[in-house]
Amino acid sequence: MALTQSGSTGDHWSSRTAFILAAVGAAVGLGNIWRFPTLAGENGGGAFVLVYIGFVVLLGLPLVLSEVLLGRAGGEDAIGSVRKVAEHSNRSEAWKGIGALQITAGFLILSFYSVVAGWVINYVFVAGEDFLGALFSGNPLSVAFAGEDQATITGRMGDLFADPGKLIMLHAIFMAATIWIVASGVHDGIEKAAKWLMPAFFVLLVIVTIYGSFTGEFARAVSFMFTPDFGKLNPTALNEALGQALFSLSLAAGGLLTYGAYVQRDVKLAPTAAMIAIADTCVAILAGLMIFPIVFAVGLDPAAGPALIFQSLPIAFNQMPAGSLVGLVFFVLIFFAALTSSISLLEGPTAWVIDRFRFRRPFAAIIVGGVAFLIGVACALGYNVWSDVRPLGFWNIFADSDILDSLDGFTGKIMLPLGAFLVAIFVGWIADRRLIQQQTGLSGGMFMLWRFLVAWLCPIAVGLVLLFGLVPGLLGTS
Ligand code: PHE
Repeated sequence: MALTQSGSTGDHWSSRTAFILAAVGAAVGLGNIWRFPTLAGENGGGAFVLVYIGFVVLLGLPLVLSEVLLGRAGGEDAIGSVRKVAEHSNRSEAWKGIGALQITAGFLILSFYSVVAGWVINYVFVAGEDFLGALFSGNPLSVAFAGEDQATITGRMGDLFADPGKLIMLHAIFMAATIWIVASGVHDGIEKAAKWLMPAFFVLLVIVTIYGSFTGEFARAVSFMFTPDFGKLNPTALNEALGQALFSLSLAAGGLLTYGAYVQRDVKLAPTAAMIAIADTCVAILAGLMIFPIVFAVGLDPAAGPALIFQSLPIAFNQMPAGSLVGLVFFVLIFFAALTSSISLLEGPTAWVIDRFRFRRPFAAIIVGGVAFLIGVACALGYNVWSDVRPLGFWNIFADSDILDSLDGFTGKIMLPLGAFLVAIFVGWIADRRLIQQQTGLSGGMFMLWRFLVAWLCPIAVGLVLLFGLVPGLLGTS
C-alpha cells in the first residue's frame, strides 16, 4: 500500500531501469573515484577496503532499502514522505525532522561538491588542451602534459587554488549545469541525463581500467587493495569507512528518499536496492583498480591524499603511452559521475520547495541551487582570501578545517551518521510494521534478517561510530 498515488510533485520514473540508472548515477560520483581511493590509500588499502565492503553489505544495503521504501510509501518530498508514514503509523509528526535533517545535509554537500567538481572541469580543460595540442602536432597518442616537469604539474593545483575568480567560475559552470538538468524535470532532465551519462561513464571506466592493467602495475594494485593489514585499522579508519559508505551510497542526504517517491508501485524494491549498492561498490573498487596501477607504475605514493587524482595522476599520465588521450577521458568520466550525483543532491531540497511553496520547478531549482552556489563561493574563497577562516574552529575535531573541509567534515561525520541512525530507528521501530513489510516485498526469513539489520545492527553500529567520532573530539583527546 502506498499512502499516496503519486509524488506530490506529480512525477514518476518512466521505468524501473530509469530509476536504477538515476539512483546508481546518484550513488556513483566523486565519492567513488576521488574519495574512496584517497581513503583506501591513506588507510593502508586492504583492511580498509574489507571493512568498507562489510559496512556496505550489513548497514548500507539495508539502509538503501529503508530510504527508498520510505520515499515510495510517502510519495512526497523527503519531509512530507516521512511525515506521511509517521501519521499513518499514528506517531508524532516530529519524525519528519529526519527529512529536514537529510535535505539540509544534501543541500550543504551540494554546495561544496560543486566546488570540487569545478576542479574536475578545470582538468578536463587542461587535459583537453593538451590532447588537442598533441592532435595538431600529428601525434594524438603522445604523452600528456608533454614537456612539463613534475613541479609544473603539481603547481597547477596550487595555482588554481590561489585564483578565486577561476574557482568560482568553474563552480558556477557546474552548478548551472546541475540546475539546468533538475529544472528540466524528473523525466526530461534527471532521467535523461542518467540514461546518457551513466552508460558513457561505465564504458570510459572500463577503458581506463583496461589501459591501466596493461600499462601499469596491476598486480601490485590488486595486492594493495585486497591484502588486509589489520594493524592499520583504528577507530578513525572505522569512522571514515562508515562515513564513506554512507556518503557513497547517497544515504541520509535526501536523494534516495526523494528518488524513492518517484518509483512506481509495482517495482520490487529489495532487488533494486541491492543493485544500487552492488553497482556503487563495484565502481569504487574498479576506480581503485583504475587508479592504483597507474600510481604504482610511476612510483608515486598511494597515500597522497586528496591530491591523488589531481596531481599524482597527471604526473603519471605524463609518463605513459597515449597519456594525453587517457587523461582527457579520465577527467571527462569523473565529470559525468559528479553531475549525476549533484542532480540528486539538488533534487531533494528542490522537491521540498516545490511541495511546500508551490513554486514551479525551474524557479525552485534556481533558488535552491543559487543559495548553494553562494555557500560554495565561501568554500572557494577558503582556499585563498579566507584561507585562515576556521568556521568550526571552536570544536576541536574541526579546529584545523578550512571552510570546505568543515562542511565536508560536519556533514560526513555528523549529519550523515545521525540521519542514517534516525532512519534505522524510524523504519525499524516506529513506522507501521505492516506498511514497511509490504513495501519491502520481502517475506519470511529475508524480512526478519533485513529487519534485524535495520532495527538492531544499524542503530548500534552507526551509533557507536558516531560516538567514537565525536567523543574523543569532545574530550579533547584527538
Ligand atoms: N554518492 C555521491 C558520491 O559518491 C555523493 C552523494 C551523497 C550524492 C549524497 C547524493 C547524496 O559522490
